[in-house]
Amino acid sequence: MKKAIIIGATSGIGRELAKILVKNNYKVGITGRRKELLEELKATSPENFIVQAFDCTTESNSEKLAELTQQLGGLELLIMSSGTGDENSKLDYSEDEKTINLNVKAFTEIMDWTFNYFRVQGFGHITAISSVAGLRGSEHAPAYFASKAYQINYLESLRKLAKKPIYITDIRPGYVDTAMALGDNLFWVSSKEKAAKQIFGYIKRKKDVGYVSKRWVLIAYALKIVPSFIYKRV
Ligand SMILES: NC(=O)c1ccc[n+]([C@@H]2O[C@H](COP(=O)([O-])OP(=O)(O)OC[C@H]3O[C@@H](n4cnc5c(N)ncnc54)[C@H](OP(=O)(O)O)[C@@H]3O)[C@@H](O)[C@H]2O)c1
Repeated sequence: MKKAIIIGATSGIGRELAKILVKNNYKVGITGRRKELLEELKATSPENFIVQAFDCTTESNSEKLAELTQQLGGLELLIMSSGTGDENSKLDYSEDEKTINLNVKAFTEIMDWTFNYFRVQGFGHITAISSVAGLRGSEHAPAYFASKAYQINYLESLRKLAKKPIYITDIRPGYVDTAMALGDNLFWVSSKEKAAKQIFGYIKRKKDVGYVSKRWVLIAYALKIVPSFIYKRV
């Protein structure tokens, strides 16, 4: 049985991915702060899940990952799905700090611990859910968009450091129907079930980058080529 950890499996994309991994013969360490939701998931397949509830912004992620990996008896795949961020055009720093603490600080510690574990082991696969939001800035949620740009660049750096068979997959959703779907005029919204299925496909194919849903690659392309003097007016 293959071994995986999902950081942020209490709800949304991470929870759906946990269900898919178990169907595909993985034993899965599931994390998040809401322990009751993790226990509820474990009850659906007790022998396939190990629960470890913790807050990535207040606990030592390295210690928690080491403990959970030991309980699993190894690690081949880590999925970083925990993330936070909200509309903050008022620039309330206490809101931004929450975003930075999870999406930047905890993210970095989790990436570093896992990459070094895989480096010693000689193989492994890291998948992180960044966002199309990481491709350009936004006046609506500056820290969130910047944190996702950080993640995209960090993952690209890891990919340059990685020697096969270590793989780094950067998942960039547009909108997925979860609590994290930010904004009022949402379009091309995927269900979390469809999103998780597509993400698992990208993982199986060891893709470097995957857009969810696939047509968001068009928006990504447009965002990359639109000149700044036009972008700042729209
Ligand atoms: N939904 C979208 O439209 C969309 C679009 C682009 C990117 N994304 C990204 O997709 C990822 C997953 O989000 P989602 O859409 O599935 O939303 P979600 O259902 O709100 O999931 C967020 C996950 O993060 C965990 N989390 C939040 N704060 C945490 C903390 N301090 N410590 C540990 N875990 C924490 C939550 O668990 P607890 O609250 O139990 O701790 C939950 O499991 C995020 O990185 C998000 O930025 C989402």
